[in-house]
Amino acid sequence: MKEATVQLPRQMSTLAADIDNMYYFIFWVSVVFFVAIMGAAIWFLIKYRRDKNPQSTPPGHHDVLELFWTFAPLLLLIPMFHFGFRGYVQAMVAPDKALEIRVRGKQWVWDFYYPGDTEATPGELVVPMGKPVKMQMSSLDVLHSFYVPEFRVKRDVVPGMYSSVWFQATAITSKYNKQENKVEGEPLDLFCTEYCGTSHSQMLAKVHVVSPEDYAAFIAGKDVPPEGKPLAEVGAELYKKNACNTCHTVDGSKLVGPSFKGLFGRNESFEDGSTQVVDENYIRQSILQPQAKITKGFGGATMPVFVMKDWKIDALIEYIKSLK
Ligand code: CUA
Repeated sequence: MKEATVQLPRQMSTLAADIDNMYYFIFWVSVVFFVAIMGAAIWFLIKYRRDKNPQSTPPGHHDVLELFWTFAPLLLLIPMFHFGFRGYVQAMVAPDKALEIRVRGKQWVWDFYYPGDTEATPGELVVPMGKPVKMQMSSLDVLHSFYVPEFRVKRDVVPGMYSSVWFQATAITSKYNKQENKVEGEPLDLFCTEYCGTSHSQMLAKVHVVSPEDYAAFIAGKDVPPEGKPLAEVGAELYKKNACNTCHTVDGSKLVGPSFKGLFGRNESFEDGSTQVVDENYIRQSILQPQAKITKGFGGATMPVFVMKDWKIDALIEYIKSLK
């Protein structure tokens, strides 16, 4: 792992060194030519100023010079193209044995689906160190973009198609805490780099790089509800983790969707004119099929589908109940 420089963040993947070398090559070529061209321009400005050269004396033709400035740049562009294209192919084609993790971008949360898991893990990506990982990406709504600066990967996440990136992390950032079923450490940041709506800037996730052993333990321990914690408290954590808070407040104020405060037990009116008392079944349906019933006055907003295990839905219901 190479530490951050003034220009670039830490190198944390096998792709990073090549990309950075290419970047610095182009950067220094640009610096040299900037100084040379600006230097020559200033020098000519002084040397041929009007009081020294009242009469213009335009130069004639010079074959050698013309051939030189035509072909010399080629010598610089050929390696730029060669290494750039080679690096591009390397970054685009994941190794066959890569671990595949599904990513689904939606307004405004990153959902991760680990192999064999039907449920989303929002906002937190855990990957093993030293193994190629391929992110198979799609979007539920609008254009997003998956960007982890330390890995030097960035790719659009497009509705209606799959795109992918791959990386192999070269340093550990976090450890898996088996007792609390939690990954802790100093994770990397995952950004969304396409403007995707009002809360675009909050569409962040953490990327934990753990040892392969910790990764296996994390996958094994993924689906159990935490023990000895009140369900409403678990729900409050899920509320934040799933970024429910970007649309639903808990203090009664209006955001993109209805506030959760005082929601449970209320007689709710819907856009289609029907009404229903907010109960467990209504909340469950609103999570799994948000478009089934749209609260009156919120027709302009579209809530994405949330794929969740039953115990998590129960926890969210308990949390909403606690906000009466
Ligand atoms: Cu998603 Cu910006």
